[in-house]
Amino acid sequence: MTDITIIGTGNMAAAIAARAASAGRSIQILSRDAVAASALASETNASAGTTGQEIEGSIVVLATHFEVSKDIAGHYGEALNGKTIVDVCNPVDTETFDSLTVPAGSSAAEEIQALVPGATVVKGFNTVFASTLAAGEVAGQTLDVLLAGDSADAKAAVASFVNDSGLRAVDVGPLRRARELEAFQLLIMGLQAGNAHPEYNWNSALKLLP
Ligand SMILES: NC(=O)c1ccc[n+]([C@@H]2O[C@H](COP(=O)([O-])OP(=O)(O)OC[C@H]3O[C@@H](n4cnc5c(N)ncnc54)[C@H](OP(=O)(O)O)[C@@H]3O)[C@@H](O)[C@H]2O)c1
Repeated sequence: MTDITIIGTGNMAAAIAARAASAGRSIQILSRDAVAASALASETNASAGTTGQEIEGSIVVLATHFEVSKDIAGHYGEALNGKTIVDVCNPVDTETFDSLTVPAGSSAAEEIQALVPGATVVKGFNTVFASTLAAGEVAGQTLDVLLAGDSADAKAAVASFVNDSGLRAVDVGPLRRARELEAFQLLIMGLQAGNAHPEYNWNSALKLLP
């Protein structure tokens, strides 16, 4: 039985697949590029396929950009009923790093949830840079993965995967908290865009310390 389906083969897909493999999870990789899917799958002992094929995992990570994630959610529609969708995207205008590309008073996660009402969306991983996921820590601190969602069961399932992979899951509340998670990462990305703060170099992490 497959635990986690990851859609995409880019930076985040590869990093999350590596984490899932380290947690001993059974993984399916789906991509529009069958060769890329097979390559990533072979590194992580996963099965591979192309986007559009049946999704096997009960947790589905959309490791794609916002517009693509919406297309994929719309494409699968009711086939996602009952599944937990992990939305990792940062809907940031990367021309300016000055605004989000979601409607005011909403978030990418809520927009995706509206497309698949029979599934449960959890916002997660958007505040963690792919470059830091391989090590699982920054400056000796375990990475925090902030999770927002309306279903306690869905968040618990994602948190279990996060914790088992050596990271620390932090439940930040209902899905509408995705607005703050996305806005916060706009701020973090803006700090680093244009090499404004070269000391961070896309290798920084957001950490909650007691
Ligand atoms: N990179 C980070 O540090 C980071 C951190 C937090 C959150 N995020 C978020 O994670 C998401 C992915 O970022 P990334 O850095 O991993 O991007 P990326 O390396 O560019 O990977 C994007 C993936 O989406 C696939 N894709 C593009 N268009 C597609 C389509 N029409 N249909 C199906 N698949 C398509 C790409 O496939 P091809 O290779 O075939 O183009 C690729 O596998 C984004 O939403 C980003 O905001 C990124």
